[in-house]
Amino acid sequence: MKERIVYRELTLHGNFNKFRSDQSIHDKMQKKIGILGSGTVAKSLGAGFLKRGFDLMLGTRDSSKLEDWMKGDGSGSKVGTFGEAAAFADMVVLAVKGTAAKSALDLAGAGNLEGKTVIDATNPIAEAPPENGVLQFFTDLNHSLMEELQDAFPAAHFVKAFSCVGSHFMVDPPFDSKPTMFICGNEENAKAEVRAILDDFGWETEDMGGAESARAIEPLCMLWCIPGFRENKWSHAFKLLKV
Ligand SMILES: NC(=O)c1ccc[n+]([C@@H]2O[C@H](COP(=O)([O-])OP(=O)(O)OC[C@H]3O[C@@H](n4cnc5c(N)ncnc54)[C@H](OP(=O)(O)O)[C@@H]3O)[C@@H](O)[C@H]2O)c1
Repeated sequence: MKERIVYRELTLHGNFNKFRSDQSIHDKMQKKIGILGSGTVAKSLGAGFLKRGFDLMLGTRDSSKLEDWMKGDGSGSKVGTFGEAAAFADMVVLAVKGTAAKSALDLAGAGNLEGKTVIDATNPIAEAPPENGVLQFFTDLNHSLMEELQDAFPAAHFVKAFSCVGSHFMVDPPFDSKPTMFICGNEENAKAEVRAILDDFGWETEDMGGAESARAIEPLCMLWCIPGFRENKWSHAFKLLKV
């Protein structure tokens, strides 16, 4: 009821749109993002969050890796350890090498992840070269990396996202129509939070269900990379068509 009255008063004063945009800026300033990683994914997503007014900290074992980025696209971001970034965050983004995901989360600290949404952009790419353009994974089709991480950190709310596209398209993808980001995870509220971020970053979202669905989403990275390794084509994204 109170909201309705505020709405009416603001509409009457012609200020509703301004109220809405101030409100969304306010929400973003409230939401602190901690990205675990210093690579190309961490920097691309980090720049996207900064542009939209989020409060950001990147976590790394070696802050010197981010010195140049902080002078450009990352200006305004904070840098800390994995633990500091996770503790700072309301929402965490995991953007480290797949083989190191578990140890990066150990360094972040289970307590710092408790109850938080963790956007999992990682892929379980093995330390082995692609075979005829096809990446090798260290997981198998009946158990994904995200399930392993969810089992190891049960109090965190993992949501797979951003894993099936190159980092250069993660924010404001420049296609004629909106590409699809496939997500999954066990916690509905966490997925709703990630969907809102994806909306903001220029994606349509397809929720594929619980953590087990990462078994199907993670291999999309293999498919996405094949034209890249075979023909040096890296300018595509997936879209789910429906009738
Ligand atoms: N590159 C892409 O376009 C792309 C697209 C979609 C998904 N992904 C996935 O996103 C993730 C990040 O990819 P990326 O290309 O940005 O970076 P990356 O080179 O795969 O990973 C770099 C990050 O991994 C961390 N790391 C490496 N070894 C570690 C260890 N032993 N312990 C803790 N942390 C360790 C590094 O930490 P420090 O900062 O401490 O060195 C660094 O932050 C990967 O899982 C990748 O498969 C990548």
